[in-house]
Formats: sequence, structure tokens, C-alpha cells
Amino acid sequence: MGIIAGLERLEPELQSGLEQASSLSQVDDLYTAFLGRKGALAQLMGHLPELPAEERPAFGKAANAVKERLAELLEARRQFFLSESELAEFARFDPTLPGRSPRQGSLHPVTLVMDEICRVFTSLGFDTVSGPEVETDFYNFEALNLPKDHPARDMQDTLYVSDGVVMRTHTSPMQVRTMLERKKPPLAIIAPGKVYRRDSDLTHTPMFHQIEGLLVDQGISLSHLRGTLTMFLRELFGKSVNVRFRPSFFPFTEPSIEVDISCILCGGEGYRSKGEPCRVCKTTGWLEILGSGMVDPAVFKAVGYDEACAGFAFGLGVERVAMLKYGIDDLRMFFENDLRFLGQFT
Ligand code: DAH
Repeated sequence: MGIIAGLERLEPELQSGLEQASSLSQVDDLYTAFLGRKGALAQLMGHLPELPAEERPAFGKAANAVKERLAELLEARRQFFLSESELAEFARFDPTLPGRSPRQGSLHPVTLVMDEICRVFTSLGFDTVSGPEVETDFYNFEALNLPKDHPARDMQDTLYVSDGVVMRTHTSPMQVRTMLERKKPPLAIIAPGKVYRRDSDLTHTPMFHQIEGLLVDQGISLSHLRGTLTMFLRELFGKSVNVRFRPSFFPFTEPSIEVDISCILCGGEGYRSKGEPCRVCKTTGWLEILGSGMVDPAVFKAVGYDEACAGFAFGLGVERVAMLKYGIDDLRMFFENDLRFLGQFT
């Protein structure tokens, strides 16, 4: 068969093939058979050199026109099947089905506890303040009566940013910042925020949260500290908790006092009802909850306060309170951001 006749037969052949096609993939097969790299048209073109030279340009032109025509036919049939499948898709869509409701977020347990603590102190007239997490040696140590080479600096595994600049190891620098800023007592503040230590194991994370408290005025005594912290801890853990004050040591307080509450799991008994040892307080009946004390005169001196004024300060770890309040026994849960865990604290 001559190649010209072959070219002329392509269109009717494709047409009948398309009429019989019953799916998109059959149309695609026809495309390959006619216009593909080894398809019918390409094969005819392979015979071009057999034509006398003067006929070749006319044949080339005709072949191009046929190619365009075939492509049009194929595309038209494609569109037909495409719209068919879209219709089928639409038929499967049920507009009466209920929509997907958006997932509602919730506050992180650490945030919840922090908010609650701030609320208690706000109701007592304390202001909430915040400050930088990158601190200078002066605010984090020096002004808090922790001079260089003071052995108590070892208590805090400091992360250094550069010489004289640290990630704050506690929220206590906010005591210094507030007193320097406000020039004169009276003042009562709490400072919630992140703190950092070079520490990472089952019960320590390199970042955690603390809340610092400071009250300064004339004539403040230990009884103010006791009264305020007892009221606060009963607000937080329930009216029935007992509060115990123990002597301790912090460089920025004198005297320094550690505060315990009666164990919230065993009620201070040390043992559960069936006689099994309490795993939360390890049978002691008490839980360490915060550090506190009367502001050391050296701190007042560092900020230029009259050494005749008096005040108390305290600091507590938020994750620890959240673990006790919600009965969470693995610190890492707070930082894994597992939505199944976080969603429980709404
Ligand atoms: N800054 C101390 C710490 O991180 C906690 C602390 C203890 C804060 C006693 C105070 C305080 O304000 O009076 O371990």
C-alpha cells in the first residue's frame, strides 16, 4: 500500500476505534497506537525517504494536517470520558453527610497550672511580670548574692551563651530586675517563665518552667511568708493539705525555708489504704513543693534598696506542680506534644 493511501486511512480508522472505545484508558491506548512514538503515523513517516524528492514536502504537510486532526479527535473523546467520570464522582458525593468538625485545641497542662498560680496571686494583689531568658551574670548570680567562685553556683548547671551571658537558671533574676526598675517598695510580683539548665534525664529537662514571687515592704516578717504561702498552697492543692516549713539554704534569702505539703496521694499517711507504700512521697508523707525565704540584705544592697526594708521571696517548679496535680509520672510527657496526652486537660 502506498504511503499516501496509508495516510488517508488513518482518520477513518481512528474514528471507528474511538466509537468503540468505552473508557478513558482505551482512548489512551488509541493515542499510543496512532500518535505514539512507534504508532501508525510515525511508521508512515519512516517511509518518507522512499518518495521521490519533489513529493516529500507535500507529503510532510499532509501528514502534519492528519496529525492535528487525529489529536483533535482523541482529545474530544478524552473530554467525553473525563466529564463522565466527574459526574460519577459527583453522584457518590452525599451532601447530607455531616461535615468534619475542626479539632479544638486545648491549653498545655503547664500553661493551665501557670495560669492558675498567677490567678491566686493576682487575687492577692501581686503583679505579673516577665523578663528575658538570656540573662547577664549580674542578674542571674551576682546581684542574688552569688558572687563569682561562690560554691552555690555549682548547684545550678548553667548553660553559658558567652562570657558573662547565661541562659537564666532560675526566675530569681526577676527579683533584681523588678527592684531596680521600681526603685522603691512596696511591691508584690510574680514572674512565671522558662528556665534552663545543663541537665537531662528522667526527672530533668534542659528547659522547664518556674514561678518566682517577691514581696517587699516595711515590716514584712516570716509570718507573712507563712500565711501567704499556706493560703496559696491550699488554693492550689485543696483546703485539706498540711503545709510544713523547713530550714534550708539559698544564697539570696536569710533565713531560707523549704516548703512541703502533705502528700496529695496518700493524704500524708505514707501508705495507701491497703497498706502499700505510697509511690509519690516514698512513705515520707510529705512533698517538697517550693523554696522560699526572707530576702537577704545583700540582695537589697545590690539593687540599692534601703536595708531597713524587708521582704520574702519564693520560687517553684511548674512541671512538678502539674505532675502532682494531674498525677503525671513522666516528665517527658510535657515535651513530646502527643495530642492524645495534651487533649486530656481541657
Ligand atoms: N531560685 C531557686 C531555684 O531555682 C528557687 C528559689 C528558692 C527562689 C528560694 C526563691 C527563693 O525566690 O526565695 O532553685
